[in-house]
Amino acid sequence: MIKNAKFIISSTDYKKCPQPTLPEYAFIGRSNVGKSSLINSIVNQKNLAKVSSKPGKTQLINHFLINDKWYLVDLPGFGYAKISKTKRQEFQKMTSNYLSYRDNLMCLFVLIDLRLKPQIIDQNFMQWLAIAKIPFKIVFTKSDKVNKNSVTKNIKKYKEYMRKEWEEIPEIFITSSLKKTGLIEIENFINQTNKLFIKNS
Ligand code: GTP
Ligand code: MG
Repeated sequence: MIKNAKFIISSTDYKKCPQPTLPEYAFIGRSNVGKSSLINSIVNQKNLAKVSSKPGKTQLINHFLINDKWYLVDLPGFGYAKISKTKRQEFQKMTSNYLSYRDNLMCLFVLIDLRLKPQIIDQNFMQWLAIAKIPFKIVFTKSDKVNKNSVTKNIKKYKEYMRKEWEEIPEIFITSSLKKTGLIEIENFINQTNKLFIKNS
């Protein structure tokens, strides 16, 4: 149960993030996929993480402390064409350093819009995660935007697509921030994984 959630800090660099003394879970994915909305839904607050209908809203590494015991992290989206190349490279460096060097990162949630066909940018990113040995799960978002049949059909297709390249497909979660579905499963996973956290002294 999430009793409290508070914003701690926005950082431009993993070195400026809070001390890595608590387990941490981050959300990433293409701009506008619904990362910030999902965090708000999980913690049951409307405006904790900043949401916008325009892509490119989240621009920093945002830490939220949950129950004083673990962190949720909202990251900037990738794949947004309308920002400058320099800015895009900056974001990429910021997030790839964060993902590579953040010691307390237990798992990354890679968000994917359930409505879309597999996107190369997501596939490339997940390949990079696998090579970098960064543990991740897939979270399909916006399931309220399609009917139940399409949910099943799209996920089946997505898995078939991944099976061609991947020996093992990561665990998946199916969510809607609007309808608040699939959130308990994520929270349960986090609670279980928290038990594996070993504090580096
Ligand atoms: P960036 O910070 O720009 O990378 O985007 P983001 O991934 O954080 O997306 P954000 O949470 O800001 O949501 C983008 C848009 O999608 C907003 O208009 C949300 O209201 C909408 N949205 C997010 N999740 C859902 C969902 O589950 N269902 C529906 N219908 N809309 C959603
Ligand atoms: Mg955001």
